[in-house]
Amino acid sequence: MKRKLISALLCGAMAATMLAGCGSSSSDSSSTADSGSATTSESGTTADSGSTGGATGTGKIGISMPTQSLERWNRDGSYLDEQFQAAGYETIVTYSDNDSSRQVNDIQNMLAEDVDLLIVAAIDGEALNTAMNEAADAGVSVIAYDRLILNDAVSYYVSFDNYSVGTLQGQYIVDALDLENAGDKTYNIELTAGDPADNNAPYFFNGAMDVLQPYIDAGTLVVPSGQTDFDTVATAQWSTDTALERAQNILGSYYADGTQLDAWLCSNDSTALGVSQALTSDYAGSNTVIVTGQDGDEANLKNIVDGIQSMTVYKNVSDEAVATLALSEAILNGETIDASMADNLGVECSYDDTSYETSDGNPCPSFLLVPTVITADNLQDLVDTGLYTMGDDGYLSAVQ
Ligand code: BGC
Repeated sequence: MKRKLISALLCGAMAATMLAGCGSSSSDSSSTADSGSATTSESGTTADSGSTGGATGTGKIGISMPTQSLERWNRDGSYLDEQFQAAGYETIVTYSDNDSSRQVNDIQNMLAEDVDLLIVAAIDGEALNTAMNEAADAGVSVIAYDRLILNDAVSYYVSFDNYSVGTLQGQYIVDALDLENAGDKTYNIELTAGDPADNNAPYFFNGAMDVLQPYIDAGTLVVPSGQTDFDTVATAQWSTDTALERAQNILGSYYADGTQLDAWLCSNDSTALGVSQALTSDYAGSNTVIVTGQDGDEANLKNIVDGIQSMTVYKNVSDEAVATLALSEAILNGETIDASMADNLGVECSYDDTSYETSDGNPCPSFLLVPTVITADNLQDLVDTGLYTMGDDGYLSAVQ
């Protein structure tokens, strides 16, 4: 109860400061692009850069996002930028075009600009050692944002409960097919996972498989392609085109004879988009195939309205930015950060200091927010966040 009240108050205050910040700074903190110089957005703390009355933060924050080609990171980048600026901080925001060496370079440039704190959503959790070691040498704290970085220079991790994203997807399939009451009936399923370079991807997949595997073992769920291990079903860079191509191959090889496909587990929306496209163009059957996703990307929400995708696991990335800002302020103010901090981040989250290790035996204190399931039946919940609007056609658009 108390946490909800704090969250509501904080979000209200954030919204007010964000509005003030956006109104005064939008032209300065120009939108960023994957091409161009490494530091693609930079803005100061003067009155017209978002530092309005009540903002007390001082310092420069480096915000390194992976790419603008996947919808959510544009939202993350701009929420973080707006919220830190509204709180009085200078920000540098970069997007690294899904290119790890460019991300190293972008972070090095931020260090050269004397940032006080780094917030990094890694392209490849194992490829940032050079930049992370330099951050440690410079005494700059690093928050791994959404995706863990496998380097001990990382001080904290802010994300969603990645494993439960997967269990929600798996459970959705179990419930939709009513597998508990399947009796002798069998159902066909195929699987598509995320980018092996992304530390999150196995968490999503394992969460889903922990729910689905018992039904596969019992023979209730069958995978006609036989492709069930993570490495085989993974999708480099979460690419829609790669997911589309693999789905077309599977449909051509295992379903062209009229075999019915009942469900396709997809770890996120960009891969679900590719799989749905393949189902629309290459699937011979007439049944509706259950397709899972994650993120609430606009195109996928449209597919949910149109009955082409069944669900998405929604992660409110504005809340993720709220939690990251609160944690950053605590770090910069030298506060003690322990489990009790989970009650002070302004959003519902749990503290976990065992599950995520930056190296063997080195767990990273993690703050994990709560994902939710969105289907055609509760799209209004997204509108209620204030982050989406619904058009007369029933389709949702993200508020820019
Ligand atoms: C994020 C997902 C996203 C995926 C691709 C993951 O690390 O947690 O929300 O769908 O990256 O961008």
